[in-house]
Amino acid sequence: MSWKAAASRDSIALRLSALFTLVALLVFMLIGWALYRQVDKSLGLLPEAELDARYSVLESALNRYGNPEHWNRIRNKLDLLSEEDRRIRFWVVSPDPTYAYGQPDAQLRAFSQGPEGRRDLQLPGQPYPMKVLVSELPAREQRPALRFMMAIDTQTFWQTQHTLLMALVGFAGLGVLLASVLGYWAARVGLKPLVELSSEAQKLAPPKLSGRLRLSPLPPELNQFVNAFNSTLERVDQAYSQLESFNADVAHELRSPLTNLIGQTQVALTRGRSAEHYFEVLQSNLEELERLRSIVNDMLFLASADQGSKATRLPVSSLADEVATTLDYLDFILEDAQVQVRVEGDAQARIEKAYLRRALINLINNAVQHSSQGQVIEVRIDSRDEQVSIAVSNPGPPIATEHLPKLFERFYRVDASRSNSGANHGLGLAIVKAIASMHGGQVFAHSRAGSNTFGIRLPV
Ligand SMILES: Nc1ncnc2c1ncn2[C@@H]1O[C@H](COP(=O)(O)OP(=O)(O)O)[C@@H](O)[C@H]1O
Ligand SMILES: [Mg+2]
Repeated sequence: MSWKAAASRDSIALRLSALFTLVALLVFMLIGWALYRQVDKSLGLLPEAELDARYSVLESALNRYGNPEHWNRIRNKLDLLSEEDRRIRFWVVSPDPTYAYGQPDAQLRAFSQGPEGRRDLQLPGQPYPMKVLVSELPAREQRPALRFMMAIDTQTFWQTQHTLLMALVGFAGLGVLLASVLGYWAARVGLKPLVELSSEAQKLAPPKLSGRLRLSPLPPELNQFVNAFNSTLERVDQAYSQLESFNADVAHELRSPLTNLIGQTQVALTRGRSAEHYFEVLQSNLEELERLRSIVNDMLFLASADQGSKATRLPVSSLADEVATTLDYLDFILEDAQVQVRVEGDAQARIEKAYLRRALINLINNAVQHSSQGQVIEVRIDSRDEQVSIAVSNPGPPIATEHLPKLFERFYRVDASRSNSGANHGLGLAIVKAIASMHGGQVFAHSRAGSNTFGIRLPV
């Protein structure tokens, strides 16, 4: 498997782990920054606190003594302290050299003349500044006013801060790395049901469409998806088996006229026949051929409807007019069957006349075929809720409810024995349904009180 295929297969897991990484990065950065700020602030206070602590020990002695003798003792004390802690340095800047300490150079002298208090001093050749406490000692006895300076090297504090920063960056990097690896793992584990589901779905290919996705326990997030998938599968399964039986039905339907044609022709050819006989055979063959043509025409029409061809919306027509025209066309059939047709109501709708007539012919033809002499067929035109309906009813024995919706399927008949009669090849109502949906409408059928009704409902 190529890298690209693997990446696209795992793309949700990769995406999730990338998100985890991003979130971890943000969280670590935020916490690290806050922690660093806090520690930095506390570290910055430490040298100052240390300076203050040490100065408080010296302060009283510095102020109390004002003669050279005592000052010698102070000098020794400062020597001792500098020896003890190499980070600490002292200077005394005095106009009288007797009281000076630590040989302050010009830079230090200038610095000592600045304001009292704690300040930073950058000495040449030192990487870190010193924190310096400057204090003025007023004149006492023989001693003039002095400037006392005490400095602490901040190197250790800066180094601590640097180590902390490195540690924070290191741990954050490690944390982000861990989050991305663990995130990827967690995403893979979390997405496992999806992987299982797709491997299950892969097993469902024709002709094994009767299976359904059955993952249990199903995570609720996948519930909807599985249900939708299963109901799609249900429809595909239905369509698939319909198609299978449709093929069988077509072959079957074409076979009987072809068998008749061949049979009759073979019999006619067995020996010499009179001209009338040939005429009769040709006549009969013509009927079979016409039946074949009508089946093929109907199937072509259904195929074009299946491919989504729609009725062109023409100007509004009166449906009663269309029914009347159709009845004119069916004049002979009605007369032959000795049935009457009563038309009630009217409505206006945009329809494709040729299609509607074809549907009406099929409906009325069926009604004629299923009525007896002297009975009355009713055609009702209604308009309600932005819809018009045309219903064709004829008296007849009740049709079981389980048949009713199926009658609009191709080749479905209640009474299979009729199937061989010339004009009936079981596509009439399927065409009615196709015409209804080409107009955005539906069909309906019901059987009650000794009357069977088939019709179409179209949007206005
Ligand atoms: N008016 C009706 N009364 C009773 N049954 C009907 C009526 N119209 C249709 N049917 C039933 O519906 C089936 C399908 O009708 P149709 O599609 O027109 O096919 P066909 O008429 O070629 O059999 C018929 O075979 C019949 O069983
Ligand atoms: Mg019919």
